[in-house]
This record gives sequence, C-alpha cells and structure tokens, in this order.
Amino acid sequence: MRKIQFAVLLCLSVSLFGGRERISFDQGWNFFRCGNMPDGTTKAEPEGLENPSFSDDGWRELNLPHDWAIEGPFRMDLPNRTGKLPYAGIGWYRKDFKLSKEDKHKEIYLMFDGAMSDTEVWVNGEYAGRWPYGYNSFYFNITEHLNYGEENVVAVRLDNKPDSSRWYPGGGIYRHTYLIKTEPVHVDIWGTFVTTPLVQTNKAIVEIKTDVNNAAGKDSGAEITHQIAAPDSGEIVCSESRKIKAQAGETEKTEMSLTVTDPHLWSVESPDLYTLITEIRQNGETVDKYETKFGIRSVKFTADEGLLINNEPVEIKGVCLHHDLGPLGAAIHKRAIERKLEILQEMGCNAIRTAHNPPSPELLELCDEMGFLVMDEAFDCWEEGKTENDYGRFFEEWHKKDVTNLVRRDRNHPSVIFWSSGNEVKEQRQGEEGREVSRKLTGIFHELDPTRPVTVGCNSWKSGFNGFQKTVDIIGFNYKPHIYGKFAEENPNMPFLSSESASCVSSMGEYFFPVKQKKDQGFFQFHVSSYDLYAPSWASRPDLEFEGQDRVPQCIGEFVWTGFDYIGEPTPYNKDKTNLLNFQSEEEKIAMQQKMDEIGGKAPSRSSYFGIMDLCGFKKDRFYIYQARWRPEKPMVHILPHWNWPERKGEITPVHVYTSGDEAELFLNGTSLGRKKKGEYQYRLVWDEVKYQAGELRAVAYKDGKKWASEVVTTTNEPAKIELEAGSKTIKADGSDLSFVKVKITDNLGKLVPRSDNMVYFEIEGPGEIAAVGNGDQTSHEPFQASRRKAFNGLCLAIIRSYKGETGEIKLTAKSRNLSSDSAVITVE
Ligand code: GAL
Repeated sequence: MRKIQFAVLLCLSVSLFGGRERISFDQGWNFFRCGNMPDGTTKAEPEGLENPSFSDDGWRELNLPHDWAIEGPFRMDLPNRTGKLPYAGIGWYRKDFKLSKEDKHKEIYLMFDGAMSDTEVWVNGEYAGRWPYGYNSFYFNITEHLNYGEENVVAVRLDNKPDSSRWYPGGGIYRHTYLIKTEPVHVDIWGTFVTTPLVQTNKAIVEIKTDVNNAAGKDSGAEITHQIAAPDSGEIVCSESRKIKAQAGETEKTEMSLTVTDPHLWSVESPDLYTLITEIRQNGETVDKYETKFGIRSVKFTADEGLLINNEPVEIKGVCLHHDLGPLGAAIHKRAIERKLEILQEMGCNAIRTAHNPPSPELLELCDEMGFLVMDEAFDCWEEGKTENDYGRFFEEWHKKDVTNLVRRDRNHPSVIFWSSGNEVKEQRQGEEGREVSRKLTGIFHELDPTRPVTVGCNSWKSGFNGFQKTVDIIGFNYKPHIYGKFAEENPNMPFLSSESASCVSSMGEYFFPVKQKKDQGFFQFHVSSYDLYAPSWASRPDLEFEGQDRVPQCIGEFVWTGFDYIGEPTPYNKDKTNLLNFQSEEEKIAMQQKMDEIGGKAPSRSSYFGIMDLCGFKKDRFYIYQARWRPEKPMVHILPHWNWPERKGEITPVHVYTSGDEAELFLNGTSLGRKKKGEYQYRLVWDEVKYQAGELRAVAYKDGKKWASEVVTTTNEPAKIELEAGSKTIKADGSDLSFVKVKITDNLGKLVPRSDNMVYFEIEGPGEIAAVGNGDQTSHEPFQASRRKAFNGLCLAIIRSYKGETGEIKLTAKSRNLSSDSAVITVE
C-alpha cells in the first residue's frame, strides 16, 4: 500500500515552472552491498550490475537519503576515528523510471546533492559519469542515454575505501537526488549569480549574471526577464527583460542590473530573503522559469572595525559542525539540522563553519532563513592527504571541478560570507611550494566569485608569519589564542579569526574528583569530566580563547570545535593502544589497563567528546559558558556539577558558576559560601572549597550590583518516573519530518535524576516510526536503530519520523522496570 502512495506523491513533489521540472528522485531504489560487509566478512562484487538486463529482484528496497553504515553494528575491531561503524564497502543502487514521449526533445539532468563516495553512474547500461568527492553536489546530463515512452534503468556504484576519513563519513546516497527536465533553451544548472554591489538603506543595486544554455541544434533567439519578489509579500518590486541570441550548442552569459528601493536588508537579526524569478520566453511562450533566493546585504572584513554586515559590526560567535546528525547518521534530515540551529541560536551562536567540506544545500537554506553566517569549506586536505585513502588521491584531477560546483551551488546564499579553501592542510608547512597551491586555490575561488574573501584554517602558528597568510584574504588560526597579539602587531591591516577554538572535551553529566587543574587529567573510564577544564595538548578550555580574543580585538571571532558531539574522533580515547598515555597517575593507568584487558585491549569510544551539546543535542554544561558570553543581555546563571553525591559527604566538591552577570553568591542549604566577582579575563566563578552535603545549591547572580538571575540545583530522590517531552508536537506527513522526544528519568517530584541509567523500552502506535534512538554516552555500542535505549545520566532520546502521506496521531509510550511510564502524542498533518 505504501508503494502506491509513493507513486501518487512523486507527482506532488514535482516543481514545474515554465518548461522546467525538478522531480525528487529519492523513492523506489534497490540496494546491494558488497566488498567489506558490516559483519566483517567480504563479499565479491558481481559483474554486470549496471546492465539493464540484470535482475535486481531480491535487492533491498529503500528510499533515499540512505546511510548504509549507521545501521551498524558497532564493531570493536573497527577504528574509533570513524565511529567503529562499517562505512567501508561497495554499494550499488538501481532504480527503474519511465519518461514519456513528450520528454523526447528535453534536456534531462540527474542531480546528486551528495553521495559517499566515488560515485559512478550508468543509465541504461551506458556510462554517465563519475564524481569522487563524497561531500559535493554534482549532476550529469543524461539526455543521450535515455529511452522515451519506455523504462529506463539507472545504476549507481559507490566505493568507500577503509581509512578514507578522519571522522565518520557515512556511506551511500545520503543526500537528496533530483531529475531535472528542461526545454532545450534553459537557465544552466546553478546558472544564476546574484550580487549586491551597492547596499544602502534607501536603495540597492542587484546585479544578475545568468548562463543560458541552448542545447538545440539551431539558433533560436529568446527573451530573458528577471523579476525580483519582495520578502514575505512576494510583491514584484522590479523587473527587466532583454533579448538573447541563444545560439545553437552555446552557453550565453548575460548581465543585468536592477535597482531595489527601500530594500529589506538581510542580517543575522532579520534574515529577509528576496526571490529572483528568471523567465526565458520564446515566441511568446515561457520555456523556463527559474527561482533564486538571495539576500541584500553588504559584507566587509576590516582589521580595525572587524566584520561589518550592512556597515554594522558583527562578532563571529560560531561553531564548527561535521555533517552527521547523531543517531540518524549522515542521512540528511532537514528537521534535524533545523533543531541543531535552534539550539545553537538559543546559545547565542550566529555562525557555522562547515567542517571540513561542502554542506548539504538544506543547511545553507536554513542558515539563510534563520540568520546564520557561514564559512563554507571545501577540503580537509589538498594534495597531501591525512589518511591513506582520503581526498588527497583525487585533489590534483578534481579540485577545480569541486571548487566550481561548490561555488556555483552556494554563491547566492546570503549566509555564506566567506569561502574556506581548506583545513590544517599539510601544504602549510611546505614553504613556497605549499603557498603556490594555496594561491592557486584562492585564485579559483576569486575567479568564480570575486565578491567573497577566502580563508583557510591553519594549525601551524608559523602560517601567520611566513607568507602563507598572504595566500588568502583572511587567515584562520586553529587553537592559537597565544599568538593573536604577535600576529596583530606584525599584520596590522589583516583581519583574522579563530577558525577552530577550544576543543574542550566532556561527557554530559560526568564529573570526576578530585577536580584536577591540568588539562590532560580529567579523563576516567572512557569518559571526560564536565568541569570544562580538559582538552588535548593542542587545545584549551573555552576561557583561554575568550581571553585571547578580548586582548586582541583584531580577531573577528571564533568557530568553536564543535557545536555537537559527532560520530568518530573520540579524542582522548581515539587511539586504541596508545590511549593509556592519556592517563597521568599510575593508579589511573592500572585501572584503565584492567578495564581495557577486560574488553579486549581497545577503547570502546565511538563518538567525540568535543561537542558543546552531546550526540543527541542535549546541552552539556559548556552551553552556558558560551551563552553567558554570547548573550550578555540575557539574565542567566548556571551551576555545575549536579548535587547527587551521597558517597562524597563532607568531601571537597568544587562548584563552578557561569553567568552573564558579573558577580554571584553561592548558598548551600541556605548558608552563603561567599559572593565572587569576575576579574579581568575571567569567565567563570569558582568555589573550590565546597564540602558536599545533600540538599540545595543556589546561585544568585548580579550585574552592575543589581540582582540579575538565580538558579537552584538540588539533590534528588531515587528514579521513580519516566517523563517524555516531544520537541515538535505536530509534524508533516512527508516521510521525513521528525519529532525529537526527550526521555527523562525523574524522581517522585519530577526532578531529573542525574546519575540514572535505566533501560527504556518504546512502543509506537499511529502513522510514524522510530527513526533512531540514542543517548550521549560516547562509549555505547547499543544500535541507533532500535526500540529501546539506556538512559545516560538521566536522559535518552527517541526520534520519531512520519510516514509519507499518512496523517493522524502518533502515540509513543516509554516504559522501564520499576518506573511509572509516560506517553507523548504527536499529531501528523
Ligand atoms: C583539529 C582539526 C579538527 C579536529 C580537531 C580536534 O586540529 O582541524 O578536524 O580534528 O582538531 O581537536
């Protein structure tokens, strides 16, 4: 029955403008996996899978987007850095589709927003093309391979080599796909480029460059019209037309300039979007209609005033994000990205670095709409790779094509304020040879987009001084707050940024005692203490980065590593054998060795500890140190740790307080433990001598001597109940919308019990499914696709997805032994 609904909906998901159709190509694929298999065996790759006559009956039926690795299982023998998940392997996807005879004269393109990786495509057995980079969008013109009025078969082969990434890449066609049909004369794919060379409050000039293809065998002449529709009202505010030649087989470039009076300017606070409607007409008929969303805004990077958007200074309060969506894996879900951005916005974050690769188009759409700035990054390595099978293998042949697709696809997004050509590339350290590669890349970006500067993230401080900094427009430093002063002194006219900061590590709700001050000492039993003091050797607590920026205002802001925990790279438990080196005292080493021996000599950790939020999007304490800094106008105060330490009666249990105020007083069971004021370059208030007694901790914060905010943390009773909190109470019946249901283990009074780890069982009724479950435990090997999950420090998550075309009410019930259950109802419309 579901298949029939898909067919109906396929028609609904078509966008038809003029002669152009953009049809979702996500439904109805058959999938086959070979090479490295999830269970550790290998399966030989059969020959001829691309042939139309090959029968794929018996292959697994599925819809895209699809991440073949997130299903697991986690395997102890697989590398921690890629999440202990079986992403390596070969995958084949096949799909049958029909085109009508009326399509015969049209141009047909097949678009992939992203496929991991090394995609090769055949249409009706004929080779249509290859695209190795797993993060980029690409398309093929498949017109010449098609049959009309009868079936066609597309076959896609992906090949993920082991050791091809420093983090979890996922596997499969994990982003959306489209079939695009146009008339012979049409706007090229990503064929418009809108810039705003003049932006004033009463007037803006909008410059539009358009590439128009004529795929027909004869010159035809045409007219191009641009109309600009206002945000919200959609009212056409200006328009202009021009004749074009549309010569046979050519791509014609046109340039037109339109004036918008009293423009709504795009900014982080008011992200107003205009729509450019481009129409091509021939003989009085519309043959193409193409829409481009854009924003009217000016961006300037200056050394003295910092980043100016519409001439107003804006500090970059950013985070780096990898592409995975936690328990959902790499498979794109727009709502999951939107939820991440909502949480970040609550923290005061205004910028995203797409570490270290082109993002999904959906991320940029949301950044445009919600008001985020984006550092749009191309690569994690250039020619010299970082892992044996990474992009380094393809750089020489493919870098120009990859940068071209990235820039053409993303250049109209107002959120994208600069390009990043790379992250911590090895070429930084190669003298003139490396500088030459960097200059070449910057040149490619500039040629494709003369309006945006280029940056690069450097981990060698020397790159700021040896000329490498001059190969880009703005230099980005990773983890170098201590050299900002020296850089500014030597490069007074060059703005710079912290392209990666902090890399503080923590596990949500874990605290270890005694609280050690050295940054490499907060680790125990594969977790990291949440006092936010701990970081690997190259990194630091957030406070030191804040100090670096406050001392040197030429720094235009930071991108924290990272907004959310991600799958893979579980530093400091990232290297199986050597991870013992991370433990300082003999006692801890012995304890770790015992634990490691028990579990076969390897660390179980499979996701990162770097996130301000955990893998499920639950806030760690660190959220509040950033909120205190980034939203100084919001009255807030946060206390850590939790106050459930029955075994620590009378023992020193330090309390840290984050506040947007400047002072706070701490009370334990009503007795003041003193009022403390932040000193210069101090970003947290610390009471190091608190002796634990059960009860209530209260912090009262002050700003300019006046009461500003207060917060209470209390000792709870034993776990008694489950409480569910559905993130979205209403979702769309589109087969991809989600509700994130937070599952809390609470005591009889409804207070979250911090150290509880009860197993929770889910039951679901109605028009939806459990897409994934998870918790923030970086060491858990429980599957993400399941109907039960253990809580980790009181919390776990169930992600509910609608079925396509089915409305009604979903009821999710959560049960656990000895706890009273709870249900959440989600309406599907
Ligand atoms: C940086 C690197 C990131 C991540 C981070 C962890 O050096 O650019 O990708 O590995 O370290 O601290």
